[in-house]
Amino acid sequence: MEYLKVIGKKNLKGSVKISGAKNAALPLLASTILSSRKIDISNLPDVVDINTLLKLLEMLGSTYNKKNGILTIDSTTINQTKATYDIVKTMRASILVLGPLLARFGHCEVSLPGGCAIGQRPVDLHLKALEQMGAIIEIKNGYIDAKAPNGLKGATIVFDKITVTGTENIVMAAALAHGETTIINAAKEPEVVNLCDVLKDAGVQIEGIGTNTIKIVGSNQKLLDFKEFTIIPDRIEAGTYLCAGAITNSILKVDNVIPEHLEAVIAKFEEMGYNILKEKLSITILPANKIKPIHITTTEYPGFPTDMQAQFMAVATMAEGVSIIDEKLFENRFMHVSELTRMGADITLNGTVATIQGTPKKLFGTDVMATDLRASSALVLAGLVANGETNIHRIYHLDRGYDKLEVKLQTLGANITRDEEKK
Ligand code: EPU
Repeated sequence: MEYLKVIGKKNLKGSVKISGAKNAALPLLASTILSSRKIDISNLPDVVDINTLLKLLEMLGSTYNKKNGILTIDSTTINQTKATYDIVKTMRASILVLGPLLARFGHCEVSLPGGCAIGQRPVDLHLKALEQMGAIIEIKNGYIDAKAPNGLKGATIVFDKITVTGTENIVMAAALAHGETTIINAAKEPEVVNLCDVLKDAGVQIEGIGTNTIKIVGSNQKLLDFKEFTIIPDRIEAGTYLCAGAITNSILKVDNVIPEHLEAVIAKFEEMGYNILKEKLSITILPANKIKPIHITTTEYPGFPTDMQAQFMAVATMAEGVSIIDEKLFENRFMHVSELTRMGADITLNGTVATIQGTPKKLFGTDVMATDLRASSALVLAGLVANGETNIHRIYHLDRGYDKLEVKLQTLGANITRDEEKK
């Protein structure tokens, strides 16, 4: 197994190009199930989760190739409708094939994703919404067995809770359904917008894109006329590199981003005393005279993203004073706390609230363990300012969602290397 070695206290400087968004690419790849033709996709990130979904699509019958940074995928050839446990257990986002498979074929089986490190993460809302669209769903031997022999029917869905992949699944299902679907309390994350825009380009009538109420007119099971499309930049990757600038108090620029997608994150940097320069497709963070503590409550877009919580906690360890972070989305998304504490951070947890007493200059390097994707990047960030050497183990979590993280950090001046664990 591989690990990352970070030698702290190096100044960072320069700019980094942000890759395409993993969480936009996943539903968009699943949406190719709805296409009547081959599609060219640009700006796909080179991360493990994307390869996992491609493998699943290939098992279902899709074919694809990558050339000059463009993925060409043909999902018209799909002839299987079962997403097996072997693959779903490695990536929960495999649930994204449920809506499009059911809408196109009228039946499918998808292994139930289990819990995961950051919380229980049920899929009840996806299933309830599909049932409202006429699906007959049974849970059999750990599989979601879904049937809609005459196709799905448009319905009014009111989500009890805002769900990103749930909204995406229903948008895809509704695109091929009979009649009109209205989703109330829909997610409005930029990744959901990217999906809706691509479907609209493919001829689907969609209203309310980027709002909490989305209306979709289905195609009566006719496959869609997809055009080539581009994945939006990864706002969480961009935010993570801005945190690398913040924690080392360096000047650092992220290129190929949409600044509007990072407003809540930028506001928190400014509250902490950093200066932020926004240009059309880039953001630069400038050092703070004094790093001030922050209060953060994670929430749905356009609020502060849960996917940036761990990284900001690492930055908060450098603040002069007490920061408070309340994690409202995932009940167990604090696995990085014990690892940061092992590096000398002073953090106490009470339910979903973490209190961080800033200890500038006091973190020290040690062996730490990555527990989930964003927790892993928080440990790398802490390693950048720790005294001595930090070895981050179990980095397969990191590779699921960060495209060439150590290479990008090296170009910014960080001393970070990937190595094989000695047996
Ligand atoms: N929820 C339910 N029932 C459901 C679905 C969700 O109770 O049927 C709950 C969840 O347990 C959670 C809340 O609703 O408390 C929101 O979960 P959501 O469904 O929005 O999360 P998700 O769609 O599974 C996506 C991202 C996550 C990101 C969350 C929140 C993808 C592939 N994943 O997950 O990304 O944290 O939205 O923004 O888009 C990551 O990239 O590291 C990551 C975990």
